Amino acid sequence: MKNITKLELNGKRVLIRVDFNVPLNGGIVLDDFRVRASLPTIKHCLNEGASVVLMSHLGRPNGEIVPELSLDPVAFCLEDLLDREVMFSEDCISDDAIGLSQQMLPREVHLLENLRFHKGETENDPVFSAYLAEHADIYINDAFGTAHRSHASNMGVSAIINETAIGFLMEKELKYLGDTMKTPEQPCVVILGGAKIGDKITLIHNLMEKADAILIGGAMAFTFLKVQGKNVGASLIDQDNLNTAEDILSLAEKTNTNIVLPVDVVAGPKLSDDTTWRIANLDQLKTGEAGYDIGPETTMEFEMILSNAKTIFWNGPLGVSEIPAFSTGTQAIASAVIDQTEEGAISIIGGGDTASALKQYGLERGFTHISTGGGASLQLMSGKQLPALEALQEYA
Ligand code: 3PG
Repeated sequence: MKNITKLELNGKRVLIRVDFNVPLNGGIVLDDFRVRASLPTIKHCLNEGASVVLMSHLGRPNGEIVPELSLDPVAFCLEDLLDREVMFSEDCISDDAIGLSQQMLPREVHLLENLRFHKGETENDPVFSAYLAEHADIYINDAFGTAHRSHASNMGVSAIINETAIGFLMEKELKYLGDTMKTPEQPCVVILGGAKIGDKITLIHNLMEKADAILIGGAMAFTFLKVQGKNVGASLIDQDNLNTAEDILSLAEKTNTNIVLPVDVVAGPKLSDDTTWRIANLDQLKTGEAGYDIGPETTMEFEMILSNAKTIFWNGPLGVSEIPAFSTGTQAIASAVIDQTEEGAISIIGGGDTASALKQYGLERGFTHISTGGGASLQLMSGKQLPALEALQEYA
């Protein structure tokens, strides 16, 4: 795939697919991580003398105009970050919007309204793609977070515009989640959390071939522990995937992968901010009491294993990180990963919940790479293709 540094951009109109699917509240962008991550590509195009048209989705409006899902607040956020005017069009394919793009001067920026206000986006409708393609001469895809979707702005447009490339963010995501994790420097340690095994079966199988150790926390740990016959009290179990957990444990034995499960937990009678909590070994868990975070002994064991790692990949919080009492495991392990990164290890954090948990506690600095993609990073790390990239390759 062509890199944008290979493009002749001076005086050209460039249409960039970005992922500005960011959390909003009352018209304010709550987390501008994805907007900041797209800046290198946007600034490069502007510095080279191009005019820049940006398109993104926000939420899932299903083809309806939903005012709360307007990208208008993101235009203000981008104006601040770029320190220049950002023009905004209220319909991504109206005559006015396309006319404005066609009259833009070099170094001007134009953000289009939410693509998903039109059904044609998610349906990858060729007519909708053709309208989008009228905005520019060159198409750049920098929306890694959406690369697992087969939508018009990801696929259809790249079939119409001749000159295409990937942006710097897409390149960086593919470098770490793709190349680095294909043949990770050993020892490679994987940290997995979150609730459901079902969402991560292929990921776990794929990672078992690469990792020396897989450290498992989060609610998913209890499904494995239950299969091992351990006492899990009232902890959340993924009932539909008990057999899967059993298969994974026996495969790990065959492939010599060290799957490390919690030996102690932070336990409580219920999941709420004001609940009482205590540290308990698994066999001390009482009926009605559930584990909501990894305990100190487990944290120490995870830290010991991480202290040898040369590559670390982390997907999923290790406890209920929204509640401070159940977030200490995630915070302690984040610090251990940051320390190991300082020692020269490569640390890669899957996007989505893991990235949000780290940001909540101000722990987002010091890792080699935090992905902007949740579903997309899961799909790539599971060894599957990303449709947006396949389309770019097919029509290049
Ligand atoms: C994400 O937030 O993971 C991406 O922006 C994709 O959003 P979607 O799951 O609504 O397609």
